[in-house]
Amino acid sequence: MSFSFKLATLLYSVCMLLPAAAQAQFARAEDAVEYRNGAFFVMDYHYDRIGDMIKGKIPYDKAVAESDAAIIDALGKLPWHAFTPNSITENSRAKEEIWQQKDKFKAAADKMQGETTKLAAASKTGDLAKLKTAFLATAQTCKECHDTFRKKKK
Ligand code: HEC
Repeated sequence: MSFSFKLATLLYSVCMLLPAAAQAQFARAEDAVEYRNGAFFVMDYHYDRIGDMIKGKIPYDKAVAESDAAIIDALGKLPWHAFTPNSITENSRAKEEIWQQKDKFKAAADKMQGETTKLAAASKTGDLAKLKTAFLATAQTCKECHDTFRKKKK
């Protein structure tokens, strides 16, 4: 079985599980923080790799970009349900505004997911310029939300 086929199967399973994942409960605020940051961390790894291709730090490889973008698009659905009420811990950089301005936070998350879907589509074209445009649009949505809803590093 090829890697990309296995990956596609895995992602398909993840997507099928999403409605269930979205109902996951977290016993402790620490678990919610770890979960959402785990999703962000893995997403970020694949996001950086596409970034490196765009900057020419590593060679452009359509298959790698395509699988990275698919992972970003799937994982981008996960962090949000783990922003359970008042789950701010020592390790969390979440700002209280997330819960005070729920609609704005949700809109920022939705905006990102709109762009990651476009990124996944662009990665399939094999056109580096299109990938770059979609990547920059996605990056902008990450930044916008972080600027508003994430505390600066201590
Ligand atoms: C709607 C808001 C929002 C969007 C969009 C968003 N993030 Fe975040 N992100 C956050 C918040 C809030 C935190 C801090 C969560 C915490 O510490 O409790 C965070 C944390 C992170 C972290 C830190 C994880 C760790 O290990 O501590 C990374 C990396 C990250 N985001 C990457 C991204 C990338 C890449 C994108 C875009 C593809 C993105 N984020 C989009 C809100 C967002």
